[in-house]
Amino acid sequence: MREFTYVSQAARVLFGAGTLARLREELERLSCSRAVVLTTAGQADLAARARELLGPLAAGAFTGAAMHTPTAVTEQALALVRELGADCVVAIGGGSTTGLSKALAVRTGLPQIVVPTTYAGSEVTPVLGETDNGVKTTRSSPAILPETVVYDVDLTLGLPVPLSVTSGVNAMAHAVEALYAPQADPVTDELALRSIALMSAALPRIAEDPADLESRADALQAAWLAGTCLGTVGMGLHHKLCHTLGGSFGLPHAETHTVVLPHAMAYNARAVPDVMRRIAEVLGAADAPAAVYDLVSALHGPVSLGGLGLREEDLAKAAELAGGASYPNPREVTADGVAALLRDAWEGRRPASESRALPTTALRTLTDQVVASFDGAPDPRVRRLLADLVRRLHGFVADNDLTEDEWRYAIGFLTRTGQLSSDTRQEFILLSDTLGVSSAVDLLTNSRTAESTPSAVLGPFYVEGPPPLPGGADISQGLAGTPLWTSVRITGTDGTALPDAVVDVWQSNDDGFYDVQLPDLDGPALRARFRSDAEGRVEFWSILPSAYPIPGDGPVGQMLDAAGRHHYRAPHLHFMISAPGRQRLITQLFVAGGAYQDSDTVFGVKDALIVDFPERGGPTPDGRALDGPWHSLDYTFRLAPETPR
Ligand code: BEZ
Ligand code: FE
Repeated sequence: MREFTYVSQAARVLFGAGTLARLREELERLSCSRAVVLTTAGQADLAARARELLGPLAAGAFTGAAMHTPTAVTEQALALVRELGADCVVAIGGGSTTGLSKALAVRTGLPQIVVPTTYAGSEVTPVLGETDNGVKTTRSSPAILPETVVYDVDLTLGLPVPLSVTSGVNAMAHAVEALYAPQADPVTDELALRSIALMSAALPRIAEDPADLESRADALQAAWLAGTCLGTVGMGLHHKLCHTLGGSFGLPHAETHTVVLPHAMAYNARAVPDVMRRIAEVLGAADAPAAVYDLVSALHGPVSLGGLGLREEDLAKAAELAGGASYPNPREVTADGVAALLRDAWEGRRPASESRALPTTALRTLTDQVVASFDGAPDPRVRRLLADLVRRLHGFVADNDLTEDEWRYAIGFLTRTGQLSSDTRQEFILLSDTLGVSSAVDLLTNSRTAESTPSAVLGPFYVEGPPPLPGGADISQGLAGTPLWTSVRITGTDGTALPDAVVDVWQSNDDGFYDVQLPDLDGPALRARFRSDAEGRVEFWSILPSAYPIPGDGPVGQMLDAAGRHHYRAPHLHFMISAPGRQRLITQLFVAGGAYQDSDTVFGVKDALIVDFPERGGPTPDGRALDGPWHSLDYTFRLAPETPR
């Protein structure tokens, strides 16, 4: 049975978009009529806006809030509060402004309305941290807890992504430490886990689209929940470390939280494996500390204390300060332990939780042995590729705690991929394509000159030695579709015509199948080999390409389904072009406005290869009689010289 004492913090919370407009109403609700508005200097415009909204209820503003709540700044603000005879404070901003508000409230007893613009969370806690002479002290009192919190999602839309990340991880730290606090209770546990889930999902979406209201709302809600945890239970080693680093070494608050959190988690993991397992579960990862580190680094957030400006020679002092004091933490805080933690955080190492240290050491030895087994390979390239492959595969196994069942499944998957592969069905190419590996190789090995036409993946449907056809021929072999007249020119990068180039073309039919997928078809269709004429031109009839699904009845299709990905390729025409003295070009032309252009399942679309295929009417260029509309494609391929200049 779990025993606990639960005390909730009384606060009035408004949450929504545009809620700042309700400031005056909230002030009146508190029977206040002389508000001092607080902001930092950088957010003085918000102070002006608040004063406007409050009208005669605004007595004045103090726009000098500063990080770590220095008592000297509080004294200045206090003088203004007294001079104006203020009867409440309205704080708009992040943790610094909220800190000032609390510092004033605890000295005057004035009620506070706090409007957070970051994910600091301190607006819902009765805790105040202040700095005096470089030393940060923390105290807790009911008078410190703000009476009203107005969450206005609109105010967070402009929070720059880097700040959103650090502020968001700062909030996450409250939730993490709440889960192993001595006073932890079931309500706080649920709030904490919900907060971590919301924040970890919202931050990547914010990085992608900082103005997305829903993601911003999720992050702000996560911050509120995390702050509520912080206000209900005590914090441990992580917060102590951050206060020390901030107060004594002037490191920035949210950034420091962001760097330290994964390391503090790794330190405590041994003592609270169950908490780490629950956090890992909501993060959808095997190892919670590593997952937090990975989240931060994927979002380009700070990962090292060195990067934040902490000098290496200050590490020992920091360890001494943070290790010295006694405070509740699930694992005993030792000087050596803290020193090692800080060293890892200073270097920005990806943490490995202690529970895995033993197998990790053995694994390193094993990996080294396997890598060394390639030392004798005569071809240095073979040696390098095999060694690196082994290192990465072992790392993959370790980082994901791969189980035997999972590895057996992977081997079965690859086996089925091989068994399905044949001359006409290349499941391995499909796998490479759908994992983006083909496009990655293409990106790094081709398209290197700005003047030449970009390349694109070959795909599995090219057949060696397509039927040679004369210029103007129809490659559709009578298959149904909207007629397409293609007229392309093959030139060098300087625009000079390349006659006698070999131009292979291939495409799918109207139903999305290549001829090799249609066993009843008699001979090749929708593929051909042309030669460019004296002007470097190739012309032919075919049909307008349409979007089509890649073959989905094999392991690759299963993989896409398991990932909830669609199977479709954007409509395109394939080309493989060779000319003497030129690099061979394998590419595709995509129909402008075609479906799936932004989500091509093989990641093959490049902007420069999206081309208009306009609808035409009337006579065709070669006088062919057509009943309905037809489309045309006009394009110039520029081939790079054989040896890049
Ligand atoms: C294709 O365009 O033919 C293709 C490319 C990659 C995978 C499947 C099909
Ligand atoms: Fe294709």
